[in-house]
Amino acid sequence: MSNTIDELLAGLDLPAKIELISGANFFRFAGDPSIGLAEMPVSDGPSGVRGEQWDERDPSVSLPSGTALAATWDRELLTEIGALIAAEARRKDVYAVLGPTINLHRSPLGGRHFECFSEDPLLTAEIAAAYVRSVQAHGVSACPKHYVANDSETERFTADVIASERTLRELYLYPFERSVQAGAWMIMAAYNSVNGVTMTENDLLDEPLKGEWGFDGVVVSDWTAVRSTLGAAKGNDLAMPGPWEAWGKPLEEAVRAGQVPESAIDEKVRRILRFAERVGALNGTPRQAPAFTDAAAQQLVRTAAAKAMVLASNDGTLPLNKPAGVALLGSAAAEPRFMGGGSATVIPSHTTSPLEGLSQALPVVYTPGVHLSENMLPVPLDLITDPETGTPGLDLRYLDGDTLLDQEHRTAGALMLFGNANALRAKTIELRGRLRADVAGEWRIGFAGVGTLSLTLDGEQVLEENVVPAGADPVEMLLNPPQRSVTRTLAAGQEVDMLVRMVPGGGFPAMGITCAVGRPRRSADEEFAAAVELARTSEVAVVVVGTTEQIESEGFDRTTLRLPGRQDELVAAVAAVNPRTVVVVNSGSPVEMPWRDDVAAVLLTWFPGQEFGAALADVLTGAAEPGGRLPTTWPRTIDEVPVLNTKPAADNALPYEEGIHIGYRAWLKSGVAPAYPFGHGLGYTSWELADLKVSGRTATVSVRNTGARPGRQVVQAYLSRSVSTVDRPVRWLSGFAAVEAAPGETVTATIELPQRSFEHWTDQGWTVEPGAFTLHIGTSVTDLPLTADIG
Ligand code: BGC
Repeated sequence: MSNTIDELLAGLDLPAKIELISGANFFRFAGDPSIGLAEMPVSDGPSGVRGEQWDERDPSVSLPSGTALAATWDRELLTEIGALIAAEARRKDVYAVLGPTINLHRSPLGGRHFECFSEDPLLTAEIAAAYVRSVQAHGVSACPKHYVANDSETERFTADVIASERTLRELYLYPFERSVQAGAWMIMAAYNSVNGVTMTENDLLDEPLKGEWGFDGVVVSDWTAVRSTLGAAKGNDLAMPGPWEAWGKPLEEAVRAGQVPESAIDEKVRRILRFAERVGALNGTPRQAPAFTDAAAQQLVRTAAAKAMVLASNDGTLPLNKPAGVALLGSAAAEPRFMGGGSATVIPSHTTSPLEGLSQALPVVYTPGVHLSENMLPVPLDLITDPETGTPGLDLRYLDGDTLLDQEHRTAGALMLFGNANALRAKTIELRGRLRADVAGEWRIGFAGVGTLSLTLDGEQVLEENVVPAGADPVEMLLNPPQRSVTRTLAAGQEVDMLVRMVPGGGFPAMGITCAVGRPRRSADEEFAAAVELARTSEVAVVVVGTTEQIESEGFDRTTLRLPGRQDELVAAVAAVNPRTVVVVNSGSPVEMPWRDDVAAVLLTWFPGQEFGAALADVLTGAAEPGGRLPTTWPRTIDEVPVLNTKPAADNALPYEEGIHIGYRAWLKSGVAPAYPFGHGLGYTSWELADLKVSGRTATVSVRNTGARPGRQVVQAYLSRSVSTVDRPVRWLSGFAAVEAAPGETVTATIELPQRSFEHWTDQGWTVEPGAFTLHIGTSVTDLPLTADIG
């Protein structure tokens, strides 16, 4: 085929080639009909396939996010998830999904921690490889990102990570190396710099990526990460989004002037054509992916979410045994986070909140107790009617002066218009609906958006403002636009005509428009007291706590590990009146839990995807095992976290001073015990490990279920060196295997130990230090009952 690619290349002149190496638009790679090359739509894809646009009329399955997927430690599950992602990609007509996100959990403050898999390179690599293999087996490209060391978000466009070659090789590059071995067709180059050079121009794209590892796919820039015309001489193949000005005419001139060799452009085009051939965009059609019915997709997401939930502690209260009454508390029970914010956001056709899911399974009474945010929510469909159709929803109009360009019936209160052709040509956008108050009280009514926005209620304009974005990051502006509101006292059943008008602004085309409402609330103290009283009088209290989009999302890092609002106070007050208090934590990354030893059970659920409530009900009632094991260490307090800083210095430098000691490696080195160690997670049964045997690079262990229920265990293997001339972690993960066993049953866990986990990086390359290693087998990094020497 390489001949054919070269022949096709030979048929393209320089401008045609340059057109191919930047996007056709925001989410499309360019095509060229003269050589049978179709345009290639792509979509973000770490935890669901959005498609080219965010549009509730074309919904996506919302999967558990990165930390949740890694918490399953389950390669087979990832293979099934990969098939679902491929099916979603085909359904949405996209050729590639921009994921998985395989940067590491270096600091728990990292804003995209939820989207990445783990603090451990081997676990990250195993999960990533299964994802890549499975998605691509169905002819859809994966795109592991962001190459490399994009492990935090503060000043993400300019941060300059300073790290040694050994640190990069052993930690941050390793998941990419394994993804390339798994056959990745595309890799995304990060925004940041490493050791002084921005990643789209960094030599790390040549070595080890394209040279030593033999990566023959496309390096695509993170969106807007291509910085210069002359940088086109370097290893980034495709500039996104496009058309990218700096790579258009100026690049043509630079090539003609001999500043950028034409051979560099040819090489990029060859890679893009090879990629197109793989995904069926070159004189062909994309391969059919497996079809998933809605029910099958929902079941898979529900199973995966339960398998990801980590039971951190349990005094025997869980699983719940037919309680007479359950107090369900916490605003996250009704308004949880199904997914993390940012480019990974998708719009599912439906979601099941903990309140909805638990109400199906248990005698639940709910009150929030606390509100996490003063923000209004997009108006819910059961409160708004489109005046044009008389059905739930809103009327969206695109206008140029008085001329109506187009009109749509929409079924969401928050509309993302980014990339929408109508929105691009409209001068004014209007969103209208008839709001019905379902309860009496003080309602907040308003909008969210950027530009000149106004609100008209019952024909009277009550607000007008030129709203400017809070920060400069377009992703944040897209997903978290500023809100403005007025307050109205409404009777139950009262209706109000609502019109939000927007003239887009802020230096961007229309990103989104939202009709927002804030329902009447009790005073904070009344609400808090009601929750504690409900807990006191119920057999069991389940408190759902979590983070918000404002504190944990793409585009910025966290500044604290504390739960927002009065959630800690609520858990403490509830635990004081009800000894059977179960806390469900809905965050993508670690949070401090000062009350963790005072409650009956703690269940960590991550951002579990659209079936959150159903999976939670399965786990709390014992219909499913909480299958997760921690892919990242949970600290007691922020002060004890050994690697924390994510803020670059004035010269942009962000030194990875800790070298190879991140995550549990750093905790073991510091000697401080975290709240819950890496690999930890309880189930509903008990286990005994025995009979460790080693043969070559394979370990086998007998695993006996000593409890009364069937269960699942993740058997983990770590290596250590008692004598070493090299700076090493105290121990490090070398392999793992998940097993299932019935009560009383003994099964064998077979763990493959990759040779690389015995090697370390030196100036001469990979090497194995002579002498014996110790192999430790157990169920977390600190619970390792079996050991053996291994050479
Ligand atoms: C993110 C990428 C994402 C891209 C396209 C960027 O801001 O860093 O992960 O794939 O946007 O949405």
